[in-house]
Amino acid sequence: MYQKNKKNYVAWNILEEDFPGSGSLYDKLLFILNYAILSPSAHNTQPWLFEIKNGIIYFYIDNKRALVGSDESGRQLYESLGACLETIKIAGYYFGFEFDVLYQYNDKNKKDSNKELFCSLYAKECSIDTENIYYKLFKNITSRYSGKLKYENIEVDDKFLEEAGKLLFNFDDLNLKFVKVQGLDRNIILSAIEEGTRRAFAMQSFKNELGSWLRNNWTKKFDGMPGFTVGMPAPISLLAPKLFTLIDTSKMQISLMKEIVNSTLVIGLISGGDCKENWIKSGQLYVLVSLLSCNYEFSTHVMGAAVEFDDIAYQLSENLNINGKPLMFFRIGRQKKKFLSPRRLLTDVLI
Ligand SMILES: Cc1cc2nc3c(=O)[nH]c(=O)nc-3n(C[C@H](O)[C@H](O)[C@H](O)COP(=O)(O)O)c2cc1C
Repeated sequence: MYQKNKKNYVAWNILEEDFPGSGSLYDKLLFILNYAILSPSAHNTQPWLFEIKNGIIYFYIDNKRALVGSDESGRQLYESLGACLETIKIAGYYFGFEFDVLYQYNDKNKKDSNKELFCSLYAKECSIDTENIYYKLFKNITSRYSGKLKYENIEVDDKFLEEAGKLLFNFDDLNLKFVKVQGLDRNIILSAIEEGTRRAFAMQSFKNELGSWLRNNWTKKFDGMPGFTVGMPAPISLLAPKLFTLIDTSKMQISLMKEIVNSTLVIGLISGGDCKENWIKSGQLYVLVSLLSCNYEFSTHVMGAAVEFDDIAYQLSENLNINGKPLMFFRIGRQKKKFLSPRRLLTDVLI
């Protein structure tokens, strides 16, 4: 564990013993949101805001945090929201709550220039089954992290892949496929990553945005991606945000991406029809798989490059025999060091 005592990392220190069991419904729901804010999100933008009223959690999209340069369709935004929603459901269940979810992101009346209602979560008390997958995954919320470095040469357990496959049960419009990074499939995966990375780094808007969310290793900011999470030494992390925007680093990026993919034994692909509903579900499924991977001391790492461009994504699906459009591509494996990323404080995401 790293950085836990710094202010912008304290959100990770939440303790389940502090759940206000005899407190008000408001206090309980508020406590559950301490776990929501630990969800993964594209560029660690944390594009969420919350309001609690009369036993309902109003979950807003923080539009100022949308990635206009690298996520034109909004897919990554909705995947991030889906991941956060699922984390709320997992933490809620652990403390005895289920939620009826009313999606409202298509309701134009619930939108202003800064924020937009994503969904309302109606809380109801429920009995807890300790065999329920939500109950079992809860403890991993505070230890999950995106493993973005090279992985050790350790087989990904078949038992994990089998268990992860079962998580699909709740998401009937999606497919989840695991592919071993070997033989012809390795070349197919590498060429998708290479071409996706090349195209992304050819876009000035992508580079500017990436530079604006990259942080140096001593960052005091509560969001964004510190350089150490991608293996950057401290001096480089000071320069990197500017370097990305000013010079062509695509060749270096491609070789780094290829290196980390080459160290990976298994990747996961979530696919399905290309629509907002499935983007949300992909984020939900991804976070479940990611939390499950912690049980096996693995981590996961989303790589947008393989799926961001439609033609590359469809080619990947054809070559790897995948149903539907690949929506999320992630590596699974074990890296030596574990790094947490900063989080906004709960008070900063409350309305
Ligand atoms: C929808 C989504 C897309 C992401 N895309 C990428 C990506 O393309 N490359 C990458 O290195 N990490 C990607 N990530 C991982 C985030 O950078 C990471 O979740 C965030 O920095 C917070 O770090 P943490 O997951 O360790 O808490 C993605 C995460 C999500 C949820």
